[in-house]
Amino acid sequence: MPPITEIADLKRVYRRRVPKMFYDYAESGSWTEQTFRENTTDFEKIRLRQRIAVDMAGRSTASQLVGQDVAMPVALAPVGLCGMQSADGEIKAARAAEDFGVPFTLSTMSICSIEDVAANTSKPFWFQVYTLKDDDFMRRLIGRAQDAGCSALVITVDLQIMGQRHKDIKNGLSAPPKLTPASIANMATKVPWGIEMLGTNRRFFGNIVGHAKGVKDPASLSSWTAEAFDPSLDWDRIKELMGMWDGPVILKGILDAEDARKAVEVGADAIVVSNHGGRQLDGALSSIRVLPEIVEAVGDKIEVHLDSGIRSGQDVLKAIALGAKGTMIGRAFVYGLGAMGQQGVTRALEVIHKELDTSMALCGRRDIREVDRDILLVPEDFAGRWAQN
Ligand code: GLV
Repeated sequence: MPPITEIADLKRVYRRRVPKMFYDYAESGSWTEQTFRENTTDFEKIRLRQRIAVDMAGRSTASQLVGQDVAMPVALAPVGLCGMQSADGEIKAARAAEDFGVPFTLSTMSICSIEDVAANTSKPFWFQVYTLKDDDFMRRLIGRAQDAGCSALVITVDLQIMGQRHKDIKNGLSAPPKLTPASIANMATKVPWGIEMLGTNRRFFGNIVGHAKGVKDPASLSSWTAEAFDPSLDWDRIKELMGMWDGPVILKGILDAEDARKAVEVGADAIVVSNHGGRQLDGALSSIRVLPEIVEAVGDKIEVHLDSGIRSGQDVLKAIALGAKGTMIGRAFVYGLGAMGQQGVTRALEVIHKELDTSMALCGRRDIREVDRDILLVPEDFAGRWAQN
């Protein structure tokens, strides 16, 4: 195999190795996928300012996110079904993240449970919750994360109901995969994946099965979200959930300055500017486009992070230069996980780190904490001219 030098290499291997159903799950946006596409193409519109004859020795990408030391301002985003991309996937990704020195966020919709990941790692990870109707389940879930020593709670605020992803419906996405002629035919071409999967008993939604009551088909992400998620979520409920947690709270899925101000009001420690990787409201602006406005509105009052569209260290650098304190990667690490397990996640982090470090240096900066907008060339109308009313 030729060397892996960029995230796109991992994606190619991932696509060959993992059943179509799970590749499509990761690689989908909702409806027309406009927002999904623009999340990456908008990053390309921003250019970097090359500077020369600046001492580049002794560089550092180290920073802090919600008061915790990180080797670079990149966290692994909560991604559902990682344990279907690679057997025991959440444990593998968490181990790669802790070795690298960046936070791993475990999704509620993980295959390996909170307790399982905690037992198989040695550093605290972050835990993500959706807002579910069942208050008793929510209290137990958040309590379980606290007992497992998780070091931040990430509350997803943009998925009360799920944006439709056509491919998931067509593929009949479920964990474990339902055996249909099409899924069997496809899995027959993914033998190494299948052998690994047969070797683990972690094949169900570990945080849900056996813990949540009255769910008819817990294997199906879409029916479970339709039945269990709380469509009536409001800021009072967000406050209640925050009150169940002792530690930093990160609200993930903010795309509007007004919502960002509300997040400050309720006392969150950080927000993630995110459109859920283009998987929720198709037609929404890309995260990187709305970042400057949100930073201007609340950047001095709350830590602003960004996800959706980051596929390289240069993207991380651009987000930081536009005022984000941190970033999250989802697909970029999932490609690595599906391609090569733990080693693939490590490789993804190495690739991103090298791109970040080298690009920062070529922009004439030695410390990620000193990077600002001055290193960028941003199109004058980057935010776009939109009539709001
Ligand atoms: C769940 O959060 C998803 O985007 O699939």
